Amino acid sequence: MRILALPRGKTKNKREKFLREIYENIILPYELSDGYEEEVVGEFENKFEEEHFHNFISFVKPKAQILDLACGDGRHTLKLSDNMEHVIAFDISPKNLKKARRKCLKKNVSYVKGSMLNLPFRPQTFDGVWFSQAFEYIPPDLRESFLKQLNHILKTNGMSFMSVETWMNTNTLTSLKELLSDFKLFCYWKFLKRKPLIWGEFLYYCAPRGAAERFSGWHYHVHTDKHTLRKLLDNYGFIIKRMDVKCGYIYLLVVKS
Ligand SMILES: C[S@@+](CC[C@H](N)C(=O)[O-])C[C@H]1O[C@@H](n2cnc3c(N)ncnc32)[C@H](O)[C@@H]1O
Repeated sequence: MRILALPRGKTKNKREKFLREIYENIILPYELSDGYEEEVVGEFENKFEEEHFHNFISFVKPKAQILDLACGDGRHTLKLSDNMEHVIAFDISPKNLKKARRKCLKKNVSYVKGSMLNLPFRPQTFDGVWFSQAFEYIPPDLRESFLKQLNHILKTNGMSFMSVETWMNTNTLTSLKELLSDFKLFCYWKFLKRKPLIWGEFLYYCAPRGAAERFSGWHYHVHTDKHTLRKLLDNYGFIIKRMDVKCGYIYLLVVKS
């Protein structure tokens, strides 16, 4: 499996080498965790996620083919499969796919291991793509290629949900604090540790949250803002139907035009 749409073999530059390291770093916390992300199996993170879910379900047809992209431990796969004809649960982490399979013992779910940066699906395959809490793993220089692939695999008028991690908040002071925190981490890794970061990227320290989580160490994330996102989505043929900035995420419902 190719994780990145980068050439195999020798890495050409520092950035490519860094991206390869990052992709090993990204799956570690998931591979080392035994628990589920949510306390109650299948619960929503908050009321915004729940509202977007119901909007998504009512927009796509009941006979829909759905991709749960970066499905994690299957938190939403379970709910999607209750409402849809067929769901493909897709993730890079074998451990998370195993958990999702255990959670959704259903006939209308298939499980595929792969990288969202190199999607293995034919053009116009899906009526809907559910993409929750994983945009933070798409490096800024690979966003365009990712959105292009997302556009290809969606049918015309197909819908995608996205929750995109951000420093933005409804409160200006909180936004500035978050932005400053991102900026400090960015400067630390870029100028002191000399990693070839692009603005938006940072590594933060992850401490285990309980006995089921054994990973501790630095973990890669990217933050973006709604203006950058709006411009990107517009360039790649997506019409924004709904956008909310809440609880550290930009919640979006977009339609392929
Ligand atoms: C924070 S979890 C979100 C899981 C789920 N969508 C949810 O909302 O509960 C992020 C997921 O993205 C997956 N992931 C990270 N990079 C990936 C990649 N390149 N391709 C596919 N999945 C990836 C991780 O393995 C993890 O399961």
